[in-house]
Order: sequence, then C-alpha cells, then structure tokens
Amino acid sequence: MTSDLRQRKKAARIALPTAVLLLIGSAVVVQSSAPAAAAETTLRAAAAKAGLFFGVAASPNRLYPIVGQEFSQLTPENDMKPDRIATSSGGLQNTSGADTLVNHAQSNNMLVRGHTLVWHSQAGALQGASQATLNTFIGNAINRWGSRIAYWDVVNEALEDNNTGRRRNQWPHTMNRDANGDGDFFDAGDTDVIRDSFIRAKQVVQAGGLTTKLCINDYDVDGLTVQGGTPNRKADALYDIVRNYRQYIDCVGFQAHFNDNPNSIITNDLQANIQRFADLGVEVHITELDIDDDLSNNDIGAGQAENYRKVVRACLNVAQCTGITVWGISDSESWRSSERGLLFTGGNGSYQKKAAYHAVLDELNKGRNPTVPPTTPPVTPSVPPTTPPVDPTTPPPPTTTPPTTPPTTGCSATVSLDSWTGGFVATVRVTAGSAPISGWSVQLTLPSGASVTNTWNANRTGTSGTVRFSNVSYNGSVNAGQYTEFGFQGVGTATGLTPVCTAS
Ligand code: XIL
Repeated sequence: MTSDLRQRKKAARIALPTAVLLLIGSAVVVQSSAPAAAAETTLRAAAAKAGLFFGVAASPNRLYPIVGQEFSQLTPENDMKPDRIATSSGGLQNTSGADTLVNHAQSNNMLVRGHTLVWHSQAGALQGASQATLNTFIGNAINRWGSRIAYWDVVNEALEDNNTGRRRNQWPHTMNRDANGDGDFFDAGDTDVIRDSFIRAKQVVQAGGLTTKLCINDYDVDGLTVQGGTPNRKADALYDIVRNYRQYIDCVGFQAHFNDNPNSIITNDLQANIQRFADLGVEVHITELDIDDDLSNNDIGAGQAENYRKVVRACLNVAQCTGITVWGISDSESWRSSERGLLFTGGNGSYQKKAAYHAVLDELNKGRNPTVPPTTPPVTPSVPPTTPPVDPTTPPPPTTTPPTTPPTTGCSATVSLDSWTGGFVATVRVTAGSAPISGWSVQLTLPSGASVTNTWNANRTGTSGTVRFSNVSYNGSVNAGQYTEFGFQGVGTATGLTPVCTAS
C-alpha cells in the first residue's frame, strides 16, 4: 500500500397492483396492466438488466461461492501487480495467483480487469525501470491473458495528492520531460510515461487482434469539485490526459475510495463528472468502490447506504458508465477494515448483507434513468369502498378476456437514441420473449456516413452499414419477459434504426 494512500484519512413508491380496480358507478371494471418486472435478487443480475457489470476485487484465497453469485466482474486485488508478477527485465513470474483468478472468473462468466501495469506503488522489481523495460512488461502481461482480460488498468494513480492537478514526482513519472516548458507533457517533443505506456499497450492489443480495452485509473478524481466547492484539479488533469490521448485510451476508472478527506468525499457533481468523460467517447467505470461509514464529520452524506445509492445512481444515469466494482466483499477483509466501507459483514465465506447492499441492489433494480412514478397522493376514501351488492336479476358484468398474445419465443430489440450534431449514443434494449434465452445477437443497419466508434456490454462485428452485436459473457442469459441493455456510440447521424434480434 502506498504511504500517501495510508495517510489519506480515512411519493413513496406506490406498488402498482397488476389489476387496478376502478369503481365506476356500480360497475367494477378490471383493468389489466403488465405485471411489474420482478426485481432481481443478486447484484450481478440487477446490474446486467440495467446494462452494466457489478464487480469485486478478489484474491485467490477468497474465491467463495458468493463471488460468482453476486458479481459479474473480478479485479485481482493484488495478484497482477508488478511486485507480484514482474521480473526486473519486464518478464513474468509467479503468475499462478493471477491465473487462478482469471480461470475462476471465466468459469463464472465474469469479466476480468487487469490491475495494473504502470504504477509507482507495489512496483517490485520494476521500480526505477526504463520505459523500454516497462514496455517489455506491458507486452508480456497483456499477451499472457489476451482477450480473457476485458479491461487493463495500464496506468494507475499518475496524479499527485492534495488536489494540485500535477503529475506525481515519483518514478516512473520522473522520466517525464516537458521539452518546451509549457507545463504539460502533451507535445511531440515531450517525454510522457503515460502516453508511451498507452502507445505500447495499444500496439500489443492491435497486433494480437485482442478485444481488451485500455484504461487509466485514479482516486480523488470522482467529482467536478472537492469539499467546499473548490474545482477538482486532479479530475481536470485526468480529463486533459484522456482528451489528449483519446486515441489510445478506451476507458477511465474512478477508484472511488470515499472517506472524509476533503478531496475524497462524494459530491453532487459526481454524475456530471462521469458524463464529461463519457462525452470524450470513453467508457467510465467505478473501479474500487468503498465508502467510509464514519460520519463523524458528517461530510460524505446522510449514511452509508444512501451514499452507495448516490454513487450507483450517478453511474446508472450515464449510459457509458458500464461497470461498478467494489474493493472487496466484506468490511473485515477490506484493505481499510476500520472504515467498514463495503456491502457485507462477516468473513471467510460466511457473509451477511448490510443495509448498503440492499440499497445498491434496489438502485440497480430501478435501472438507468428510471421514470419516477407520479406522486399522486393515494385517494383515501372516508368510507371504505364496498363492493356493490350483486343483484340476482342483473347479469354479471362482462369479464374482459385478456387478448391471447401468442407466446413470443426468441427476443426483440428496441433502440433509444441520444443525438447531437455529428454524433450519437444508442442504447439497445434486448427483451426475451415468453421463454428464457441464453444468448442473443442484434443486427441493424446504420445510414450511410454513420459509424460506430465504441460499444459497451456487447461484442460487435462491423462499424458501418450492417453491424452485428452479440452478448458478452455476463448478459446473455435473460429470463422470459426480462431485458438487458447494451450501447454504442458513433459519429454521423443515426436515424430510423431497425434492430433485429435473434436468440440462442
Ligand atoms: C490495495 C490492496 O487492497 C491492499 O491489499 C494492498 O496491500 C495495497 O493495495 N488503489 C489501488 C489498489 O489501485 O491497487 C489498492 O489496493 C488500493 C488503492
């Protein structure tokens, strides 16, 4: 653990009945409405339905059944760090822990986030290495697991503490050179470890035809502001890095270790900050979430469960926020156990759900941009309604036979578009018919001039004209009548999209 990290201190919803009884005169009209979608009972299922993954950091000795049951993504908490797997010349060693985790993820249909390639901390034998050696390590590590790793944290924690907005001044950033002295490392003549590491990683991915996406990850970058409304300069600096290196960077991780350090609180502009990164065309992930439950300073909100809700909601409300990962299963096994910042108590495979767990599950079950039911106050009749007495001479009112909808096996898909001049984001909802499905593919044809630049929660073939999308490991299974969502971003104008869904 880094010493600097150690030092950072720690309408009421009215259930809609499936049949609403309306008393009109003396006749009872039975109005049938669609049954409310059943709430999912695990984090991974609720997240998949909303179109994102819900992950956990894990170690090989903590691979209890709960890992595959509740989570759809796994980040090795320590087993893929350079101090574990790198030799001083950039080779690999001791990969068995990492292998165990990748295999476990694969057999439980979980995505893997590789963590991490270039970092000043836990650098082990790479400490002080040259860019050439870092590049060797980047190549070896990416190629070892290939596309089995969905996301790699290529560069971790490049920015300084205390909201300065500057790069760190520890190795490997001491290799940086600002050739023209303009205060940044973005110019052609500059040396930048971030840029050069991403260029190398991108080359390796492209040469191997891998699907792995390349991410930059950091902490205290979550809000647009920090405590007191001061601009979050660290977040701004990360934004500049992603904007300048967009061609090599596919995703941004907000570690989201929230505590009562003034730079580590949950601010109301978290969603706006996620959105501005998303608008650069990258996926955004909450990668290491834990939330201190010590509210002694009362500066991170009303309570841990509510704080979890805020973070999950901020992600859900941005289509390109495609995953949330908590940094461990239970409080007692957390790197910051004294903060009791996770979703479970207990240990050694025997865990109890906390209020924070239920809040997260509930928020996920509401899905993205939920429509809030109108807060019409319930009509409380002063006299309880009585069923009119049945007059034996009057024939009973006709009962409306519900239309017999033929069972739709397979799946259907609908698209909702968010467009602006020259670009768009499409969210596609895949709904299973009257039988469960175990996989799906969606085909649609883009108008000429339009093309896809980024996709989340689906595999894709093609970028323009007829484009095909298919499920990823964790969202192929959809129960009868339920749905999952994926999305893509593109340039040009996309109108009149007619998706065709095929189930398997
Ligand atoms: C932490 C692990 O949880 C600890 O077990 C280890 O001792 C130190 O590292 N940011 C990161 C993670 O990117 O790798 C860190 O994980 C937590 C902070």
